Amino acid sequence: MLNIILFTLLLIILVFLTVITYSFRNVEEGFSENDEHKISVSGISQGFIYTSLVCTIIGLLVVLYIALQGTPYEPHLMEWLNLIVRLMHITFGIAWIGASFYFVFLENSLNRTDNVRDELAGNLWAIHGGGFYYLEKYKTAPKEIPKELHWFKYEAYFTWLTGFCMLFIVYYFNAATFLVDKNIADISPLVAVVIGIGSLVLAWILYDLLCKSSLIKKPLLFSIIGFAIASGFAYFYAHIFSGRGAFIHFGAMLGTIMAANVFFVIIPSQKAMVKAAKAGKIVDPRMGKNAGLRSLHNNYFTLPVLFVMISNHFPSTFGNQYSWIVLLALSVGLAGVKHYLNLQEKKQLNVWILPVSALIILGVAFMTSPQKNTNACDKEISFAEVNTIIQTRCIVCHSAHPTDKNFSVAPNGVIYDTGAEIQKYKDKIMQRAVLTQSMPLGNKTNMTQAERDILRCWIDQGAQLK
Ligand code: HEC
Repeated sequence: MLNIILFTLLLIILVFLTVITYSFRNVEEGFSENDEHKISVSGISQGFIYTSLVCTIIGLLVVLYIALQGTPYEPHLMEWLNLIVRLMHITFGIAWIGASFYFVFLENSLNRTDNVRDELAGNLWAIHGGGFYYLEKYKTAPKEIPKELHWFKYEAYFTWLTGFCMLFIVYYFNAATFLVDKNIADISPLVAVVIGIGSLVLAWILYDLLCKSSLIKKPLLFSIIGFAIASGFAYFYAHIFSGRGAFIHFGAMLGTIMAANVFFVIIPSQKAMVKAAKAGKIVDPRMGKNAGLRSLHNNYFTLPVLFVMISNHFPSTFGNQYSWIVLLALSVGLAGVKHYLNLQEKKQLNVWILPVSALIILGVAFMTSPQKNTNACDKEISFAEVNTIIQTRCIVCHSAHPTDKNFSVAPNGVIYDTGAEIQKYKDKIMQRAVLTQSMPLGNKTNMTQAERDILRCWIDQGAQLK
């Protein structure tokens, strides 16, 4: 009852706040250019209202979650939250990475010599969507800052915020299932969450210190030390979290550094540049350079982060015994691919970067390939034996009626209630329960190596139902 009252109340507040945002638009349209004070007050109030709007939505979800806890609707709610936030995350992420690729491309491809006015760094002609575009980049700032100046920042902020929400929805709310693997480290879910969040903050502090040190002037040494720190994180994550949890935290770490670069360095530098230009002062070109460098770091992080985001579809990567090496090697290979593309845009051809990057990625494919079965399967395995194993280790989740509290429906629709179903999925069982050992999830049902060997022999012997 209390839940219903609270829910209705929050809903009314939500409607009210939505109406206010519309009336603000109308009020603002009435402002003239000289109402600077009014415009700034209205800006602050708008910020306040949007924040309240977000808080109300979060409040609604919390009430809903509490009301549905323990019912079959709880996993359903989580699934839809997951779906909606995930869609937002990839949409903002595409906008952000798209802009990152585009502006680094611009920077690389500017015509800096032919017919370039003195105040310009360069220009570029382009054709897209049936129109011709002509862009100019200034060396520092134009003499007069235009009234309408587009800033690229919300893509980054919202990508990070939705990503952080995803961490909670997928990993932190179900930390015991998705984040902790007792065979890797027997830590409590709360400790795992605190380590996860703390590590993101620590990574940013270390990276930022590194950028502010004199090492930044020595790109090679900077990259080597940066890579060593990243390796430390990859190793640590792989030895404290489940395979998937480790990978996603490595991606979240890079993503956090990227978003923090925008929030703490790039945007403040740009604000200072605009302020200086407006005050008629000379804009310190170092500020732009510093922001540009962070932006370039972000550009190199994009492909590794994208890989991590899709990695949970690829158990041979996160399920590998040396998953942290897989992660690091793929990151280097993918950053190498990005480096090749950047050089290509600058018309500096380097023959070796792409083949070497490709070789690294292929090397990982080779390294993660299935190992030969060293256990001799000298005795014929009966289906009854296999069935017992599956029924005790897998069926709590993979059934038409799962009993695990996190799953109201079988994950990915994989069901092992009957012999025919088990036989049908034999290749996937081999992949997940034998080769990568990424199932049972976090080994929640305590499957033993001997049981995995039996499954392997049964499949190797033709997976017969007798
Ligand atoms: C605690 C719940 C849980 C248990 C127990 C469990 N699984 Fe899973 N399984 C999942 C989840 C969640 C997914 C989807 C996420 C993923 O693919 O990692 C999944 C996915 C899979 C997939 C991938 C399906 C696809 O579409 O690619 C296979 C195969 C699989 N499980 C096999 C098994 C086997 C075999 C066992 C028993 C040895 C088992 N699982 C035990 C939760 C579980």
